[in-house]
Amino acid sequence: MREVYAERGFEMGGLVLARNFGVVTWGSILAMLIVNVVTAVPLPPPDVAEYCNSEERCCMPRPYVGQPAHQFYPDPELPIRIRRPVHLLTDAEVARLERAYQLQKDLPDSDPRSFTNQAKLHCLYCDSGIYYPDNPWPLEIHNGWFFFPWHRMFLYFHERILAKLLDDDTFALPFWNWDNQTPEEPYANVLPISYAKSGSPLWNQQRNKCAEPPLIIDLNTIGGCTAKSPSVLRTENDRIMYTQVVSGAMSPQLFYGMPYRYGDAGGHGPGTFEDNPHGTVHLWVGNPDSESGMFDDMGNFGRAARDPIFYAHHSNVDRIWTVWNTLPGEQRKAPVDPDFLDARFTFFDENGDLIIVNVSQTLDNELLRFRYEQMPTGWVTNGQLPGEENSVPLCYRGNPTKTRKLIADTPYFKPSMVLHTVPLTFKVQRPRRRPEVGVEVLELSGLSLIPALQAHWEAFLFLPNGNNKTTVSCPEFIGTFNYVAHVGQALFNRERRWRVALGPKIMALGKENYTDVVITLAQFGPNIQPITFERAVVVFDTDGVE
Ligand SMILES: *[C@@H]1O[C@H](CO)[C@@H](O)[C@H](O)[C@H]1NC(C)=O
Ligand SMILES: *[C@@H]1O[C@H](CO)[C@@H](O)[C@H](O)[C@H]1NC(C)=O
Ligand SMILES: *[C@@H]1O[C@H](CO)[C@@H](O)[C@H](O)[C@H]1NC(C)=O
Repeated sequence: MREVYAERGFEMGGLVLARNFGVVTWGSILAMLIVNVVTAVPLPPPDVAEYCNSEERCCMPRPYVGQPAHQFYPDPELPIRIRRPVHLLTDAEVARLERAYQLQKDLPDSDPRSFTNQAKLHCLYCDSGIYYPDNPWPLEIHNGWFFFPWHRMFLYFHERILAKLLDDDTFALPFWNWDNQTPEEPYANVLPISYAKSGSPLWNQQRNKCAEPPLIIDLNTIGGCTAKSPSVLRTENDRIMYTQVVSGAMSPQLFYGMPYRYGDAGGHGPGTFEDNPHGTVHLWVGNPDSESGMFDDMGNFGRAARDPIFYAHHSNVDRIWTVWNTLPGEQRKAPVDPDFLDARFTFFDENGDLIIVNVSQTLDNELLRFRYEQMPTGWVTNGQLPGEENSVPLCYRGNPTKTRKLIADTPYFKPSMVLHTVPLTFKVQRPRRRPEVGVEVLELSGLSLIPALQAHWEAFLFLPNGNNKTTVSCPEFIGTFNYVAHVGQALFNRERRWRVALGPKIMALGKENYTDVVITLAQFGPNIQPITFERAVVVFDTDGVE
């Protein structure tokens, strides 16, 4: 059995993917697990033209008539394209952008480069659109370590297609600079005006009315409107960025996300930044009153790329990846696991031909011949030096006696603990032995929730009275869980884990000498539901340590 599968894995590494081999048996599932352990197989390039399963929503035109799939090689002759912030584009640049999208929207449905087909390609990769042979789970590029590389290349070809339609190789996608809280007009942290003009090729009807300019974005939203004032939003947005990208994302696993290997039921959990603010920006733009109840279009991954702002949003996501690479910390590097580097994805290039990209080819934007205009990144220090957050007063004032009593009075985590309307507080023992390297993290696993409903919680450290009204500006705030509902996770991955960095926060709170940590989770949103956890541990993440 094992040999058969190893052989098949080899076959799948080539271009030919056979259709379903028949019913999935326990034997075949077991065999896949064996393949995983014994002979790891990086994800082979899916044949997107032939094997789409989600006919009405995600499938691309068939029969496919372009060139057979070929390997991608970056073109060193391409001019370096500078991606600029949308809010600072000149009138001529906006006009060129509008022309490009109009040309793309005018392409016929038979052309895989058309705007509609681009949206379908995103859907295909995340909404139960494609299955590998003999694999019971749909391919899913969210919730794991392929999130950054896959989206980078999706945007790369999107940009090349627009450039080709304009017959202008210097064309660069702009980015929506929502992480920039500078209080000066034109504001970076509102939906760009050029994307908000009804009738423009950059406009989309299915949006949240509270995401119209000049309303400032709430990076910690659950969708819909907010009652927070502009100054509170600016402060909280900076804190979210700092927590999710700087203090909370010090290792490959924390930032890129958990592994996703061939045969897995999707990724084992998103990186901090994929979760929030990437996911929350989607929710903020989507229409909370959409018929599906899934915040169409942007708030529903199956439809998100039908809104042109998707591409400017993801351009900023990609830009923040380049910023993260420049932050200090010896663990801030890409995963080196071959199942990551050798995984391959299929796209359509500017000629409408199938093209296969290895993840290892996506990691350096300079090789891909694009870079980003420098913009202020106040959130990196958030007005303080990293690790010196004591200048912000704690929201839970204490002294050692009070802290010791709090720890004694708090129950240890027990399997099947449930977070529902009432915040959940528990303690977890820290490892006795502290390695000299690595970052201390809290890991919650065995999560069960309803995959068709969005879910959102906030986590606090030594803040037992934290609830869904507590501001994320409190230094005790350590991160969020933000799940954007989509049908691609119909078989919700029970192996999914949620990880959050504790180390820098424990130091900043001056709590490094206690044997336990007290954690509080508070859920909020329109769909508060019982969320069960089976396991909570504090471990040292040494990913990326040499
Ligand atoms: C892409 O990955 C495959 C195996 O996964 C490997 O054989 C091939 O050499 C790689 N190509 C490039 C350009 O990295
Ligand atoms: C923790 O213990 C060490 C060693 O005893 C001490 O130097 C340090 O000041 C303590 N930290 C706090 C916040 O009490
Ligand atoms: C906050 O939590 C309370 C229960 O503690 C709940 O009734 C309320 O709906 C929650 N508010 C939001 C916005 O989620």
